[in-house]
This record gives sequence, structure tokens and C-alpha cells, in this order.
Amino acid sequence: MNAVVMGPPGAGKGTQVKMLADGYGFLHLSPGALLRQAVKEGSDLGAQAKAYMEDGQLVPDALVIELLRSRLAETEGSRGVVLDGFPRTLGQAEALGEMLAQRRQNLDIVINMELPEAEAVRRLTGRRVCRQCGTNYHLVSKPPASEGRCDSCGGPLYQRSDDSEETARARLAVYRRETEPLVEFYASRGVLRSISGQGGVADVRARLERALGLGR
Ligand code: AP5
Repeated sequence: MNAVVMGPPGAGKGTQVKMLADGYGFLHLSPGALLRQAVKEGSDLGAQAKAYMEDGQLVPDALVIELLRSRLAETEGSRGVVLDGFPRTLGQAEALGEMLAQRRQNLDIVINMELPEAEAVRRLTGRRVCRQCGTNYHLVSKPPASEGRCDSCGGPLYQRSDDSEETARARLAVYRRETEPLVEFYASRGVLRSISGQGGVADVRARLERALGLGR
């Protein structure tokens, strides 16, 4: 199965897709995570992407599409791929269709996780991430057992530079302008399913699994 999980920043895409990938053996592809890794490593790609990410703007299509193209080549042998945060523009959506067609594959389903903006801002500004293993926390909904330390590996937690309230709101505006049109794009192709991203992580997980036709 090839699936896209879309939704505004903070909707819970990363949290949910990681659980799906761990539970069902899908490959989880997140350009946001790949780009942050590239920035951390100081690669050419990271140098080109850094300023856009810090401002909450989209990295140019050409860079992100090439990044995805190389990573899709690694899907051989997996149960399928779940894309988290790609596509975000009509150009990316068209490129994804072409990349899959070249591999004689289809995009089976697009999940649109809906979340009111005020809740998205609360989730983004309260998020903390482990610098070592990347595990996500939230100061209110998922605090670590020991303040500032990761429960899994003990690594230090930090706040993403694009999770300030100002940049979170800028990212949400970019989402409305650039990415929301994909809801109509995929609805017209008959592959869109919308679910609510509200409620606890387990509730959202159950909704997502139902929408994907996965049982536990
Ligand atoms: P990216 O990293 O993809 O950011 P995003 O889409 O803005 O999504 P987030 O990671 O912020 O949120 P999420 O929905 O994954 O929520 P999460 O599960 O973490 O992209 C970052 C940047 O990279 C972009 O701004 C852009 O510059 C660039 N980029 C990436 N992709 C690109 C592309 N295709 N094209 C161009 N540029 C691109 O949850 C958030 C918080 O809420 C966490 O603290 C979590 O613990 C908590 N939480 C999760 N679920 C729940 C719940 N049900 N209840 C309560 N709390 C919850």
C-alpha cells in the first residue's frame, strides 16, 4: 500500500505515521525529518534548505522532489510507503504520481488529518524533541518522566526552531495557501479520506487504522 498522510503542521502526522510504520512494516518517509538531518549534517542540501525551514516556508519543489525520488528507490521489498509531509504543492503531487507510475505503482489512499488552528498552535509550541533519537514529546499531553530528558535514550530535549508561535502561525498560513488545494486535487481522483486529528493519540490512531483498512 502506498499512502500519503497530509494535514496542517502539528496535526500529529509524524506521531501517527511512526506508529504505523513500526506496527505494520511500512516505510515512513518524511521530507521534514530528512531535511532536518541534512541541516544537522551540514550537507549541500541542508545549506540550501535551512533558511526556508527556519522561516516556516516551503523548501523549493525541485530540491524536495529529488530528495523523495532518491528515497523512494529504497521502498523495494517494504510493505509499502507512507509519506508524511509530501506532497505539499500541486507540483509535488504531480511529481509523486509520475514517480509511482514509473515504478508501476499507484497512490492508494490520501488521509487528510484535520485539526483546528488553535489546537495545532498548542501542539507545536509545546512540542519537545530528543536531540539524540528524535522521539517527540509534548509539555502537556506527553511530558517526559524526567524534565528535559528523553524517556527512551536519556538524550536532551530541545524545541524545534520553527516551533515558536510566530513561525508556527507562518507555517499554518503556508499550509492553507500551498497545501490545502491538494484536498480537492485528491478528492477529485477518488483517493481522499478525511479524519479528525482531535482527541488523544490512541483515538486518532484507531481512526487512522480504520480509514486505511488496517486491523489490530
Ligand atoms: P515537517 O517536519 O514535515 O513539519 P510539519 O508538516 O509542519 O509537521 P510537524 O512535524 O510540525 O507536525 P506533525 O503533524 O508531524 O505533528 P507531530 O506528530 O510532530 O516540515 C518542517 C519544514 O520542512 C517545513 O516547514 C518546510 O520548510 C520543510 N518541508 C518539509 N516537507 C516539505 C515539502 N514536502 N516541501 C517543501 N518543504 C518541506 O505532533 C506535534 C506535537 O503534538 C507533538 O508534541 C506531539 O507529541 C503532539 N501530539 C501528537 N498527536 C497528539 C494528540 N492526538 N493529542 C495531543 N498531542 C498530540
